[in-house]
Amino acid sequence: MIEFQSVRKQYDNGTVAVHELSLVVETGTITVFVGPSGCGKTTLMRMVNRMIDPSSGTVRVNGSDVRDSDPAQLRRGIGYVIQQAGLFPHRTVLDNVATVPLLFGRSRREARARASELLELVGLQQELGKRYPAQLSGGQQQRVGVARALAADPPVLLMDEPFSAVDPVVREGLQDELLRLQAELDKTVLFVTHDIDEAIKLGEKVAVLREGGHLAQYAAPDDLLAEPADDFVTSFVGRDRGYRRLSFVESDGIRPGSVTTVAVGDTPPARASWVLALDGERRPRGWLPPGAAVDGQLTEDQLVAGGSLYTERTPLRGALDAALSAPSGLGVVVDGDGGYVGVVTAQQVLDLIESRRT
Ligand SMILES: Nc1ncnc2c1ncn2[C@@H]1O[C@H](COP(=O)(O)OP(=O)(O)OP(=O)(O)O)[C@@H](O)[C@H]1O
Ligand SMILES: [Mg+2]
Repeated sequence: MIEFQSVRKQYDNGTVAVHELSLVVETGTITVFVGPSGCGKTTLMRMVNRMIDPSSGTVRVNGSDVRDSDPAQLRRGIGYVIQQAGLFPHRTVLDNVATVPLLFGRSRREARARASELLELVGLQQELGKRYPAQLSGGQQQRVGVARALAADPPVLLMDEPFSAVDPVVREGLQDELLRLQAELDKTVLFVTHDIDEAIKLGEKVAVLREGGHLAQYAAPDDLLAEPADDFVTSFVGRDRGYRRLSFVESDGIRPGSVTTVAVGDTPPARASWVLALDGERRPRGWLPPGAAVDGQLTEDQLVAGGSLYTERTPLRGALDAALSAPSGLGVVVDGDGGYVGVVTAQQVLDLIESRRT
């Protein structure tokens, strides 16, 4: 879908921002460009919609050389989202998004109706549409930026560090939102970040760039963690890569064990081991320590808080984390609705990893 072929960019002042770079971005995937500041990510991305032309080499979108297309025409098929969203400050949120359909010749009413749908799509309440951008949080502004980029329903979306100005919690929410949207919309997304964790979470393929616009490695995140191509990628991918790689390891083969459970409000059995407390819908509420004496009905304030919950059939990292974070050492496994399924130990996870190795 997007192809860079021996692309080079030297600015007038002599800076080589991109050095002879070739790669193919596949249709319908999220591809991430990641690398330290100044390594040429933005330059590379802007070549796709002709905000920047390469000094040499070719960029193709859908098989045709972008130099042969009219920039305005080209950009209609390419949404663009930047850091700080880049919204028009003097237009309401709704009108910011409606700008695009208007540009495409829709009536004002149609444009607003479409804008309203898009705000909903990115998870913003309708009433926020009446506000001005400055009256929104950073995370909300980014969502408006995404809605506006989607307004023309472009097959290609360029996102240049769109989430880097928001705090980590909001950022995670926006990342999840993008993954959800992508599952629904199936765009070809080119995403730039300098955060390797973001790259690994979002990218189906990740291109690691280093200073001077060199492509250090282009691979699926799992392969990047398993086999970094050189010292630069190894240090960029960072610590904990063995642990982080568990995010890509399937959990089939893990058989949850069982543990004694009790419903909050019931009288727990006297036990010399940990007892898991569940609510009326069998969702875990916490643990009762070994030998804890409960007189009468069990209440929540008698419980020790549980660790993270592991949703069955999701990658192994979650299972290990659940086991390590549980006070009992027993990671609680739940189904898609959050209902108790069983427990898993760290040893079970390690044994599974070992058995896969052999
Ligand atoms: N218009 C320009 N004229 C001259 N040099 C430029 C110009 N734009 C960018 N550069 C230089 O080209 C190199 C690559 O810049 P680019 O903006 O592509 O990097 P980046 O990877 O996006 O960095 P960041 O993560 O900081 O956004 C840098 O050394 C930058 O200083
Ligand atoms: Mg940049």
